[in-house]
Amino acid sequence: MFKHKDLLGLKDVTAEEITEILDVADDMKKYLCGNVRKSDLLKGKTLVTLFYENSTRTRTSFELAGKLLGASEVNISVATSSVQKGETLIDTGETLDAMKIDFVVIRHPMAGAPKLLAEHVKASVLNGGDGMHEHPTQALLDMLTIREKLGKIKGLKVAILGDIKHSRVAMSNLIGLKKLGAEVYFYAPATMMPKDIEKLGAKTAKSREEAIDGADAVMGLRIQLERQNGGLFPSLSEYSRFYGVNDEILKYAKKTAIVLHPGPVNRGVELTPQVIDGDKSVVLEQVTSGVAVRMALLKLLSEYRENCL
Ligand code: CP
Repeated sequence: MFKHKDLLGLKDVTAEEITEILDVADDMKKYLCGNVRKSDLLKGKTLVTLFYENSTRTRTSFELAGKLLGASEVNISVATSSVQKGETLIDTGETLDAMKIDFVVIRHPMAGAPKLLAEHVKASVLNGGDGMHEHPTQALLDMLTIREKLGKIKGLKVAILGDIKHSRVAMSNLIGLKKLGAEVYFYAPATMMPKDIEKLGAKTAKSREEAIDGADAVMGLRIQLERQNGGLFPSLSEYSRFYGVNDEILKYAKKTAIVLHPGPVNRGVELTPQVIDGDKSVVLEQVTSGVAVRMALLKLLSEYRENCL
């Protein structure tokens, strides 16, 4: 059984627990995609989303996940909240806790912010992405999509291309995919590859061909356009030519390979429009999986709160 008050990162979660989350998410996805969508599973519970960075997918899917299971949901707009008056994260958390909330989903530019919050509140804290640290629900939805499309995760080769160094998505996927027995190959410009990443179990490819050769799944990561002038790569067109995913380079992957991207995609940079809209792309399937995974986590955390706190 899933035995955590919070979900802060996949580093703290066992392979068995990841599998349990994915199994529950499978059921949630059937419910989500079915005709009857009414559940009282989280009736009387309250979910707060507290995002210090922009989001479309993560925030909306958590809000939908809560609503679909009968919870009340409140979004805090950080831009118009007392955070702007200098309130600390801990004071904000304790204030929300005093309103007797059950779950708080936080996205924050500082690595470790969700952990700090979790140490000071009774509510269950879910990490919606913290700095360059982890984005555990993104990796879980990626794994759900891979498992659903390819039938398994163990033994697969997953190639991840792009800004690995600054990517919390890459880090959570590396941790989660390794725990479930996949091989993870990273390929990035030297300026975007973290030092000593092999020590965490990643394989670093010397070329895009090596990374993608025989891959079962290929993931492009978002290039943060704000870094374009930071000297990390010469130009967007060169990035796309040498590090992007296009139909030509996908010939090195298995015929059955799927293409993932956490979104939002810079069309024509990380993936060509033909790849995004092509038959290997599971980008929109990932979004649907995201709602299912977040429903599963709310269910499991709620059960833990009822039975163990
Ligand atoms: N993948 C992801 O985290 O997307 P959002 O920034 O839209 O939440």
